[in-house]
Amino acid sequence: MRVLSLILICCFFLFLRHQASHPHGDDFRLGCGICHSPEGWHLDKTIYSFDHNTTKLPLTGQHTQTDCRLCHPTLVFSEAKTDCIECHTDMHQGTVGSDCSRCHSTASWLVTNITEIHQLSRFPLLGAHRTADCTVCHLSESLVRFDVIGVNCIDCHRQDYNATTQPNHAGAGFSEDCSACHPVNAFQWTGAGFDHSFFKLTEGHSTPECADCHVTGNYSDANPDCYSCHQDDYLATTNPVHSTMGFPTTCNICHTLAPGWAPASFTEHDSQSFPIYSGKHKGTWTSCNECHPSPSDYAQFTCLSCHEHNKTSMDDKHREESGYSYTSTACLDCHPTGVADDR
Ligand code: HEC
Ligand code: HEC
Ligand code: HEC
Ligand code: HEC
Ligand code: HEC
Ligand code: HEC
Ligand code: HEC
Ligand code: HEC
Ligand code: HEC
Ligand code: HEC
Ligand code: HEC
Ligand code: HEC
Ligand code: HEC
Repeated sequence: MRVLSLILICCFFLFLRHQASHPHGDDFRLGCGICHSPEGWHLDKTIYSFDHNTTKLPLTGQHTQTDCRLCHPTLVFSEAKTDCIECHTDMHQGTVGSDCSRCHSTASWLVTNITEIHQLSRFPLLGAHRTADCTVCHLSESLVRFDVIGVNCIDCHRQDYNATTQPNHAGAGFSEDCSACHPVNAFQWTGAGFDHSFFKLTEGHSTPECADCHVTGNYSDANPDCYSCHQDDYLATTNPVHSTMGFPTTCNICHTLAPGWAPASFTEHDSQSFPIYSGKHKGTWTSCNECHPSPSDYAQFTCLSCHEHNKTSMDDKHREESGYSYTSTACLDCHPTGVADDR
């Protein structure tokens, strides 16, 4: 009887020891019954009720189907690695960094948004670059090594540059930053693939041939100053005669590229002489000559071309005004900015 009870006590202590030395680590606090049934020490899926989303790695995508032991080989759950790269081989051999989740999810290793990924890199895929095969640019021996290649045009287009003849780029000293003249989203180098927007070829400049402006055959020596090409036009002006008026030779202060040089705006007129782009006379005239009857002498002016028809009422209105006379200089003296109660 004593032997039997001794054996029973030993068994009980063995049982306790077994309990204490479970494989899940010393700090493990969860009840065994969440995962195990009396059937054995395998994971009993019918009673399993642990919420893995409370851990540092919520199980999503393919991970929900993955065997516990593959991630918890020691069965000490808290020892599991948490970064993708700690469990998965970096196929890219360090060429894209260690943050796999930048491009991948647990759903699959397939990447469907490579254009967006490039968009965030230093080299967005545009134009011919978007339709080109990956391997044209990513020359690595492995299809999943994305070594940093040059992002400057010349890094990939030196041969194209050196081969140019029309025009000979190296000869003309053109920049190796192709994007100065060729849009990065173009599909060709010529025609629409050439960008002259640094000097707009619109309106009056849309008709001339390249050679009308690039008269030397060398594309690098055209001077962008209006006067360098339009001196003759300036000197030939008759209405107004620009030279006698001392108009600046920077045509674009007053002119756009509009054909026929009109309309032109001479906004300084308002502060220097008489408000015509603002105030009461804004929009009342169409030609300078309505006030300046002599194209060759803009010092002359008239107010009566418009105010003449109501001379009688004009005189009536001014009956009380001493010094009033029906002459333009008198009008301007009393109405220097063209409003009724100017003074
Ligand atoms: C969150 C779930 C969970 C809890 C809670 C849990 N276990 Fe486990 N246990 C497992 C999993 C999973 C395995 C591995 C089963 C498998 O591979 O089939 C395992 C395996 C075991 C094994 C077998 C070890 C081996 O090498 O095969 C023992 C013994 C064990 N658990 C004891 C316990 C004890 C004792 C407790 C309570 C203190 C406990 N477990 C609590 C999930 C759990
Ligand atoms: C894809 C990998 C992966 C799978 C599959 C996985 N786990 Fe985990 N598990 C982890 C990671 C990572 C942690 C967080 C470890 C930490 O806290 O540092 C974790 C944490 C845990 C914890 C909490 C540990 C603690 O001390 O906080 C338990 C319990 C656990 N897992 C049980 C399981 C069980 C049971 C299964 C199978 C049903 C399972 N895990 C499947 C990766 C996984
Ligand atoms: C604790 C280890 C562990 C961590 C951390 C982990 N995984 Fe996993 N993952 C696994 C295991 C184990 C499998 C299943 C075995 C396998 O297919 O490699 C798996 C499977 C996958 C699969 C399916 C594989 C296939 O062949 O279809 C994808 C995709 C995946 N993981 C992506 C990720 C991503 C992305 C991360 C980071 C956000 C990540 N994993 C973090 C262990 C981990
Ligand atoms: C900058 C984006 C990017 C990052 C970061 C990245 N990958 Fe990839 N990964 C890709 C692309 C692109 C592919 C090719 C996918 C395709 O063809 O659909 C790929 C493919 C894969 C494949 C499948 C290879 C095959 O042969 O099918 C695996 C596995 C993979 N990556 C693992 C990883 C791991 C692990 C990490 C983290 C260390 C990681 N990737 C980081 C972009 C990335
Ligand atoms: C016209 C050239 C070109 C083509 C075509 C191209 N790439 Fe790239 N790619 C680049 C350049 C240049 C970089 C480097 C960007 C950087 O360093 O920021 C790059 C970077 C990458 C990166 C790393 C991005 C990152 O954020 O780390 C991945 C992944 C990649 N390319 C995958 C692809 C895949 C897949 C394709 C085919 C669908 C492709 N590329 C087509 C030029 C190209
Ligand atoms: C990483 C290499 C790479 C870089 C950097 C690069 N390109 Fe490209 N580019 C290509 C490839 C590859 C093609 C497609 C060539 C083909 O289809 O034969 C291409 C095509 C083009 C085309 C269309 C030409 C044609 O006839 O197909 C233009 C225009 C172009 N690139 C301009 C640029 C400009 C501008 C830059 C700089 C902002 C630049 N590229 C930077 C690789 C690059
Ligand atoms: C200063 C402006 C400028 C720069 C910078 C420039 N190009 Fe051009 N490129 C031109 C002009 C102008 C044409 C002729 C366009 C036309 O005929 O429509 C041209 C045409 C071309 C042509 C087709 C003509 C031929 O002879 O083959 C290629 C190829 C070309 N460029 C490549 C490049 C490359 C590569 C770069 C950068 C490394 C570059 N270009 C930089 C102005 C420039
Ligand atoms: C209305 C005049 C005009 C026309 C037409 C014109 N250009 Fe220009 N072009 C200029 C001026 C001005 C510059 C210099 C711009 C600057 O330096 O800011 C210039 C610059 C250039 C350059 C840049 C040279 C360098 O070294 O940076 C190229 C290349 C060029 N033109 C090519 C052409 C081609 C090709 C055509 C015909 C399709 C053309 N141009 C038509 C006026 C013109
Ligand atoms: C201070 C303003 C101003 C400047 C600067 C200026 N213009 Fe004008 N220009 C005008 C005005 C105003 C007109 C008349 C427009 C109208 O009739 O609508 C005009 C008209 C012209 C006309 C057509 C009238 C005629 O007599 O032939 C030509 C040509 C012309 N300008 C050339 C030039 C050129 C070339 C330059 C630069 C070298 C230049 N202009 C600078 C204000 C200016
Ligand atoms: C490199 C030479 C060049 C430069 C610089 C230049 N032009 Fe021209 N421009 C021309 C040529 C060539 C024509 C077409 C022939 C003509 O009408 O004189 C033209 C035409 C015009 C026309 C149309 C004339 C009409 O009769 O319809 C206007 C307006 C004009 N240019 C304004 C300007 C202005 C403003 C500037 C300065 C921003 C400028 N241009 C700079 C060469 C040049
Ligand atoms: C509504 C009338 C009006 C219109 C329209 C008008 N001007 Fe005048 N302008 C004047 C007056 C008034 C003066 C001042 C004369 C004075 O102070 O002796 C003046 C002065 C000037 C002067 C200074 C003349 C000098 O020698 O002192 C110039 C140049 C001139 N205008 C150019 C123009 C041009 C160019 C236009 C067309 C874009 C124009 N004006 C349209 C009323 C007008
Ligand atoms: C091109 C025609 C035209 C010429 C030239 C003209 N005016 Fe006028 N003026 C008008 C018109 C139209 C109004 C009425 C505007 C309104 O009330 O909105 C007006 C209004 C006025 C008014 C009254 C403004 C008010 O406060 O109600 C005065 C004062 C005036 N002009 C003075 C002058 C003087 C001075 C000159 C000569 C330097 C002149 N005008 C030349 C068309 C002209
Ligand atoms: C001696 C100064 C003087 C002279 C010269 C003068 N005005 Fe006036 N004018 C005035 C005063 C002051 C008023 C304001 C009357 C009022 O608001 O009761 C006025 C009012 C006006 C009005 C507004 C009339 C209305 O309908 O209310 C116009 C338009 C006008 N003048 C145009 C002219 C013209 C055109 C001339 C030249 C023929 C001229 N003025 C000469 C002082 C003068």
